[in-house]
Amino acid sequence: MNINQIKQLKYDNKKISMLTCYDYSSAKIINQSNIDMILVGDSAAMVMHGHNSTLPIDVATMALHIKAVAKGAPDKFIVGDMPFMSFRKSLSDNMTAVEKIMKAGAHAIKLEGFDGNLELIKHIVQSGVPVMGHLGLTPQSVNSLGGYKVQGKIDEDKIKIINDTQSLEKAGCFAVVLECVPSTLSQDIAKQTEIITIGIGAGDCVDGQVLVINDMLGMSGDFQPKFVRKYLNAEQLFLQAFNEFDKDVKDSQFPSSKESYS
Ligand code: KIV
Repeated sequence: MNINQIKQLKYDNKKISMLTCYDYSSAKIINQSNIDMILVGDSAAMVMHGHNSTLPIDVATMALHIKAVAKGAPDKFIVGDMPFMSFRKSLSDNMTAVEKIMKAGAHAIKLEGFDGNLELIKHIVQSGVPVMGHLGLTPQSVNSLGGYKVQGKIDEDKIKIINDTQSLEKAGCFAVVLECVPSTLSQDIAKQTEIITIGIGAGDCVDGQVLVINDMLGMSGDFQPKFVRKYLNAEQLFLQAFNEFDKDVKDSQFPSSKESYS
């Protein structure tokens, strides 16, 4: 899958599926699936490293996750997230961070927000790197937003998100993630822009959907936002397997002669 094929999906009015992924083994399974795009998201900070926000992850750690995913999913279009603050420094430092993410194996980068990012986005695009924007609930700004809340509910915010999407499109972004915004806002954006819209908690008036893999597999404990659909209860299945192994070991049922060398 390459960027032209992703764009073609939109032109053909076909929905785009995207999942986050952070490791080689899961990437290998996604590679065999029909999923169109992979996001190596900075949500890795929370679901892989146990932090309570996405802020602590750095470029080197993101690059490690991207390298593993790129090895496991050579056929998929991989978007690498620019972590918190990695694109808010000097142009030179910002571009070094972009370079590390791309050289790790991403085919595009994603960065959150619009204010103050316009010139950088143009520069990245002009450097031959596809850019995906991210508007609405931007988790890296959780401290300014005062929590993980639905965005764009009041008219002023709604207009800003529409304007920012248009500006991202003009700056050359090929796509934008819309996170936790009312469906009516996504609908307005779809009417007023041509950019590929990928929603997470943004209703169905978008071109595609992204979910955090751990959430959709049922591996995120009690974390159950309204927009997540659980396709598996992996936590339960893992627990069952772990306890069966524990019992077999303790009952001397594992290993059997078949599982031992003669
Ligand atoms: O990091 C991430 O997983 C994301 C998605 C929530 C879109 O940015």
